[in-house]
Amino acid sequence: MISPKFLGRLGFALLFALQPGFAAPYPSFGTVQTTNSSGVLNAVINNTASSTNLFDYRVQADLANLVETLQANDTDIRVVVFSSGNKEFFIPHLDVDYFLPGYGFPDMTFPPALLWNISQLPQATIAMVEGRARGIGNEFLMSCDMRFSTTSPSVLFSQLETSFGFIPGCGGAMYLSNLIGRGRTLEYVLASADIDAVTAEKYGWINKAFDTSAAMKEYVHTLARRIALFPLAGINGTKFGVSAVSRPSREDIVQKAQAVITVLAQLPATQAYATKFVEATHNQSIGELELNYGQALLGLYNVTEEELTN
Ligand SMILES: *[C@@H]1O[C@H](CO)[C@@H](O)[C@H](O)[C@H]1NC(C)=O
Ligand SMILES: *[C@@H]1O[C@H](CO)[C@@H](O)[C@H](O)[C@H]1NC(C)=O
Ligand SMILES: *[C@@H]1O[C@H](CO)[C@@H](O)[C@H](O)[C@H]1NC(C)=O
Ligand SMILES: *[C@@H]1O[C@H](CO)[C@@H](O)[C@H](O)[C@H]1NC(C)=O
Ligand SMILES: *[C@@H]1O[C@H](CO)[C@@H](O)[C@H](O)[C@H]1NC(C)=O
Ligand SMILES: *[C@@H]1O[C@H](CO)[C@@H](O)[C@H](O)[C@H]1NC(C)=O
Ligand SMILES: *[C@@H]1O[C@H](CO)[C@@H](O)[C@H](O)[C@H]1NC(C)=O
Repeated sequence: MISPKFLGRLGFALLFALQPGFAAPYPSFGTVQTTNSSGVLNAVINNTASSTNLFDYRVQADLANLVETLQANDTDIRVVVFSSGNKEFFIPHLDVDYFLPGYGFPDMTFPPALLWNISQLPQATIAMVEGRARGIGNEFLMSCDMRFSTTSPSVLFSQLETSFGFIPGCGGAMYLSNLIGRGRTLEYVLASADIDAVTAEKYGWINKAFDTSAAMKEYVHTLARRIALFPLAGINGTKFGVSAVSRPSREDIVQKAQAVITVLAQLPATQAYATKFVEATHNQSIGELELNYGQALLGLYNVTEEELTN
């Protein structure tokens, strides 16, 4: 048996080559727990190997297996509701190990292809957010059809990639510019700034922010049950039409963006920042930098908020 850590180090290309002919195409790591009733599938992303619910190879493999199930034409699922099992983090970002010098750069088209597939599912997809969603975490939300959150101070959204010297490579900023416009997209994404739930709702980044978790869950439950009354063909057909005017092409996200990120991620400055980030977060563990990245990143650039103001 090959250890998960070893598989992680090998990267995805080899991981898949090692697993031909399985019913589920990828090994299962138990990081996505699902239940379903009345056509609504609830999927909880709960990567207990990470204190920050990291989007590592485990979560990617488990989501890819779920996506394959949902793509099958005989499924009776019509709505998928994603949430997280970690109160502080929906998803913090992609595994930054990928960008460390000497890591052995994995197949970087895998994460965008996975999120692209989620964006194309025939089912309606809804995300319920209680915690930080940064980087690929926010891109995951953008790949869903609808996003709801609480107004808890733990809820923060951001595309933080520019601060690393690379780009939101899974379409996050592309989708955002449809939702909130080009100016606000670049204001937040170039600054790698966090946005809180109330402002995010005002701008249209998310559909709605609720004062309590219970209120959010009740609203989403009712909405999901209602949509699930309807035939999948109509849900899928309606999504297809909306996507025609509001989703970038697969080529833009999976090929062109990866060509850019592959170059940027191998620059010495990018790798040096990734190294510093992984050290400062104690291997992407919960702590000040992960919790409060929008502010705390200034420390990694050796400046204070006051110095920027003066
Ligand atoms: C939905 O739940 C039923 C049992 O309750 C299970 O047999 C089925 O595989 C589930 N569907 C999905 C897509 O997980
Ligand atoms: C579902 O049906 C479509 C259209 O007939 C087909 O292209 C696709 O391969 C099918 N998917 C699965 C998983 O069977
Ligand atoms: C996440 O997994 C842990 C460990 O198995 C478990 O204690 C916790 O209840 C799970 N959380 C959710 C929301 O499923
Ligand atoms: C995306 O879906 C296609 C089928 O449409 C499948 O061949 C591919 O392996 C999937 N990719 C990922 C990363 O899940
Ligand atoms: C979804 O719609 C597309 C475009 O019309 C079609 O190709 C595909 O087969 C549909 N899938 C399902 C499951 O209805
Ligand atoms: C991070 O993890 C790697 C490998 O798991 C280990 O070699 C390293 O010492 C860890 N670094 C920190 C700061 O915990
Ligand atoms: C910040 O200061 C440290 C220690 O002096 C230095 O190694 C690092 O290169 C500096 N970073 C930047 C972005 O200036």
